[in-house]
Amino acid sequence: MSIHIAAKKEDIAPFVLLPGDPLRAKFIADNFLQDAFCYNTVRNMLGFTGIYNGKRVSVQGTGMGIPSVSIYVNELFNDYGVQKAIRIGTAGAIQEHVKIRELVLASSACTDSGANRHRFGGKSFAPAAAFGLLHKAFHKAEALGITPHAGPVFTSDMFYTDPPDSWKLWARYGVLAVEMETAELYTLAAKYGREALAILTISDSLVTGEATSSEERETTFKNMMNVALETLV
Ligand code: HPA
Repeated sequence: MSIHIAAKKEDIAPFVLLPGDPLRAKFIADNFLQDAFCYNTVRNMLGFTGIYNGKRVSVQGTGMGIPSVSIYVNELFNDYGVQKAIRIGTAGAIQEHVKIRELVLASSACTDSGANRHRFGGKSFAPAAAFGLLHKAFHKAEALGITPHAGPVFTSDMFYTDPPDSWKLWARYGVLAVEMETAELYTLAAKYGREALAILTISDSLVTGEATSSEERETTFKNMMNVALETLV
């Protein structure tokens, strides 16, 4: 048991998928894993463990934003000994050539969060993906007929920013998409000596204003899940 996850240590696998939405964790357990059981219902932040291709895999909801993902990832790495974690989430495109429903592999994550400013005493840490996972995910995606983007993302503390077009600065510096968790996941993986990657489906474009429906977000991101599971096990 940890403070926010009511599981026995052996109930969580060393390989974990991390969707933001706990109902997406349930969807993955129901549709992609065999013999899955729910190990956590605390705060409805559902977590499941099951079997994929003969290997034990867990899938844990993290909630939205750095403070929430930080709680679950700290406990998974520190209390449950998780070795590899792949965030599967959504992001908003901030480049014209990054289109809705496409995949982005986050090679690194810029952030406006205060978390790392506190941790590093005002100095700047560069949160980066585990290269082994990034490399494997890129090739697994290609083998599935998907060409993902790979590049930096921007982890924002705010969905509704002031000013609303503040993303344009990051776009000018080549950042592909904006989301709200990856910088903390990569920083904690570095802290605990574990491997992490974020695989993101573009749910909306800040450039064109297009968006996918929430139904699509819950049920149709199978490409991302297949790439993630093939990379994790
Ligand atoms: N902003 C921040 N996070 C997001 C977005 C966005 O536009 N889309 C999906 N996650």
